Amino acid sequence: MFFKLSLLSCLAPFVASLILNTPADAVAGESMVVSWTASADDPNFALLLNNAGFSSPVSLPDDTDIDPQTSNDITVSLAGIPARTGYWLEARNTSDLGIIYAESAQFTITSA
Ligand SMILES: *[C@@H]1O[C@H](CO)[C@@H](O)[C@H](O)[C@H]1NC(C)=O
Repeated sequence: MFFKLSLLSCLAPFVASLILNTPADAVAGESMVVSWTASADDPNFALLLNNAGFSSPVSLPDDTDIDPQTSNDITVSLAGIPARTGYWLEARNTSDLGIIYAESAQFTITSA
């Protein structure tokens, strides 16, 4: 019985505890600071920007393999990103973008 329980816990899917903070004061065409809180076993992630009006989420440039242990934030460019409401950030598995570790709350990107 004990053996079966141990085996089950080994097979349980990885659960990230990463928390993506919701950006404030995001302005189209400018830079935006994205910060997070990670625990020691959180893996590297890809950072994407999503909106219900997008057909698919947008990878934020140069931030496809972020190590959440080496810093607590990065600065990304919002060049080419339209001003609108209803954006959210997603942290996804770097090699399997179908696996989402964390999402921010929704926020607005205002026009410059
Ligand atoms: C990320 O995805 C790859 C490919 O599916 C998988 O092998 C790996 O275990 C995943 N990593 C985590 C931490 O879920």
